[in-house]
Amino acid sequence: MKFALAVISAVLVGSLLAADLPDAAPCDPTLCSLPHCRCTDTTVPGGFTAANTPQFVILTFDDGVNVNNMVLYRSLLSNRRNSNTCPAAATFFVTHEYTDYTLVNELYNAGHEIALHSITHQVSVDYWREADYATMMREFADQRSQIAHFANIPVNSVHGVRLPFLQMAGNASFQMMASAGLTYDITWPTNDYRDPGLWPYTLNFRSTQDCVIPPCPTASIPGPWVIPMNSWTDLQGLPCAMVDTCFHHPHGADQEGWFNFIMQNFQRHYLGNRSPFGFYVHEWFVRVNPGLRFALERFLDVVNNLNDAFMVNAKEVTDWVQNPVPLNVYRQRPCQNRLQTQCGANFCGPLRAPTADKNYYMQVCSTCPRVYPWINNPLGL
Ligand SMILES: *[C@@H]1O[C@H](CO)[C@@H](O)[C@H](O)[C@H]1NC(C)=O
Ligand SMILES: [Zn+2]
Repeated sequence: MKFALAVISAVLVGSLLAADLPDAAPCDPTLCSLPHCRCTDTTVPGGFTAANTPQFVILTFDDGVNVNNMVLYRSLLSNRRNSNTCPAAATFFVTHEYTDYTLVNELYNAGHEIALHSITHQVSVDYWREADYATMMREFADQRSQIAHFANIPVNSVHGVRLPFLQMAGNASFQMMASAGLTYDITWPTNDYRDPGLWPYTLNFRSTQDCVIPPCPTASIPGPWVIPMNSWTDLQGLPCAMVDTCFHHPHGADQEGWFNFIMQNFQRHYLGNRSPFGFYVHEWFVRVNPGLRFALERFLDVVNNLNDAFMVNAKEVTDWVQNPVPLNVYRQRPCQNRLQTQCGANFCGPLRAPTADKNYYMQVCSTCPRVYPWINNPLGL
């Protein structure tokens, strides 16, 4: 009975929520202003000239964090500083499976941002395309508690979302973000707005961004920010949202070719409207293309030496967009200090998985879970 009631009320809440979402109207700039609203736009927030605008570089890596990919993360990112002496940082969209949470703790303590990429990372894109609000809550809102618990990082340090396979789910993920208090999404590619690129914006009003992987949101959903994935242009002019999906790219060993390829894409932003430059990639792709690996290192060295470019966490970009300040003011700001968190590492297992006939082992900074954590039981209680 209790169960039946719960099901009925869940169905009711679900349909009420869907019905309650108002259609988004065309954006009216007089009704949409910072810090909480911005129309889909290529103009610089705050109205600064490009020369007075910091060029942000957002470097992200997706999927499980473990000993295999940590080798590259450490060698590529350790002890990097921007020209304003503040630590340079990357953003990690983490999935639960095959993640070593002690390494997530290490990345956090090194100043990087930990963001959400779902608990299950289900391989079916239909699952993600059709995911409703409740599924999004279980995959992402619950993942935030999960990652905070097992990596021992503050729950309020987790702000970002990227949907698996960049598969959008209409309003559902943004509705989840609004109710869970998540700040930004980096899932939505744009091919049309490459030159000039799009700056981050909100969904109070109807987005005018092209919908590359439908369905895209059309409801008015105040709160979350879209950080558009301003696509790169490959060697034949085709768009690619992630570096590893560029079809025509330099040969794996061609460091010079890769460096020029990266710089050409960077300069479209840097010499253009300074919209954030995204370097979105998977670790395996960098590992199998040694030319890219060295070119990326060289590129980050270039960025770290420019007086007007900054390699920062994605959240810092939305912070700046909400409260924009000119380059000279931004440069002189004190660096953000992060309290270090301890990790009393535990090696756990074998843990029974709820779905597969399979045992898992986990490295965590908490006590060991009773069973393997999964959706509907993110802490493995
Ligand atoms: C998003 O919400 C709007 C407004 O309620 C609705 O018209 C639209 O169909 C929804 N999109 C999807 C994919 O459900
Ligand atoms: Zn992924």
